[in-house]
Amino acid sequence: MINTNYQKLPGSYLFSTIAKKVKEYQGQHPDKEIIRLGIGDVTQPIAPSIIAAMHQAVDEMGDAATFRGYAPDLGYDFLRETIAKQDYQARGCQIAADEIFVSDGAKSDSGNIQEIFAENIRIAVCDPVYPVYVDSNVMAGRCGTYDEKTGMWSDVIYMPCTRENQFVPAFPKEVPDLIYLCLPNNPSGTTIPKSALQDWVDYANRNGAVIIYDAAYEAYITESNVAHSIYECEGARTCAIEIRSFSKNAGFTGVRLGFTVVPKDLKRDGVALHGMWARRHGTKFNGAPYIIQRAGEAVYSTEGQKEIKEQIAYYMRNAATIKKGLLDAGYEVYGGVNAPYIWLKTPGQMTSWAFFDALLEKAAVVGTPGSGFGPSGEGYFRLTAFGSYENTQKALERIRTTPLS
Ligand SMILES: Cc1ncc(COP(=O)(O)O)c(C=O)c1O
Repeated sequence: MINTNYQKLPGSYLFSTIAKKVKEYQGQHPDKEIIRLGIGDVTQPIAPSIIAAMHQAVDEMGDAATFRGYAPDLGYDFLRETIAKQDYQARGCQIAADEIFVSDGAKSDSGNIQEIFAENIRIAVCDPVYPVYVDSNVMAGRCGTYDEKTGMWSDVIYMPCTRENQFVPAFPKEVPDLIYLCLPNNPSGTTIPKSALQDWVDYANRNGAVIIYDAAYEAYITESNVAHSIYECEGARTCAIEIRSFSKNAGFTGVRLGFTVVPKDLKRDGVALHGMWARRHGTKFNGAPYIIQRAGEAVYSTEGQKEIKEQIAYYMRNAATIKKGLLDAGYEVYGGVNAPYIWLKTPGQMTSWAFFDALLEKAAVVGTPGSGFGPSGEGYFRLTAFGSYENTQKALERIRTTPLS
């Protein structure tokens, strides 16, 4: 009676294991101040001009003349038009407002998008990567069986992204139907130049594959040769779906807003995926709240843009502090330039979890073991830039002065 695919998912979730270990450590060392550079949640409050827009929308909801009930399930036009103009047309991408589907965040969209594809398709993922892509396909019965030893699913095509290939995924031997690209990447904080992304777009068009492009960290890109959207690449309208979030650029993790772009030119088996996603969204989603969509609109105002850029700069100063501190301490370090994540190579033969334990026990700093994001994450470790500057400095001082290996 039940969907037995759920039974195949390996039991303990990465962050609950971390929480358990941290709790145990704190219990044994009640006086120690633990610094958390682990979970990828923001810490800065939502910016004032965005909060003002939210307040105004709250007042509108309390007045019969301006009250709004169900939001349009694909999103309010005021937000869809603003996104199309500022995120896409301003960058020369031909994306129209009605190709944007407003949602409650990138987690739901990246987990749900697989529903519009056939049950027997082959998916490819970068390794390591945000675990939702694989897990949602496991639930749908697409991934075969899990091998505890290798940490791999029999029917998933893994594209390792390691220091050996400069974190640029190579085209797999077997052509996938659906390719998940998360760039800039969580967890490695690395990304690929626009020319390499163009190669992926050409590959997908040549082979009839569809790219799911998760651009949740787009706002952190600082290098000019990195695309902010896959639609900056020629031909992406016929092969790519892009997913975005307001969580990391504007601190909406607790209020929930995101969107997915499905171009009308994207067709497979003669069917437009735009219509399918509209049908799916209309059936299973009842619209993001009016108050939050108004807040999302305010993100694009002149004041909103100024404020969020300051927040991003704050986090990126942390990233630079972590990166420099680690390099000074002799670590091999990646990421942190176009993303709020730092990806360090664990010293010697230390596993990701051994490094986690050493960092917690010797320096009272919490990070995330790379192996939790896929088999090629073994031997790496993630630190995030989302803490306070003071704590980040303190953590790095501890790491610099504490031998961990
Ligand atoms: C790659 C990636 N996609 C999506 C999400 C989730 O974003 P949201 O908060 O919009 O659901 C995250 C959150 O950590 C992420 O790292």
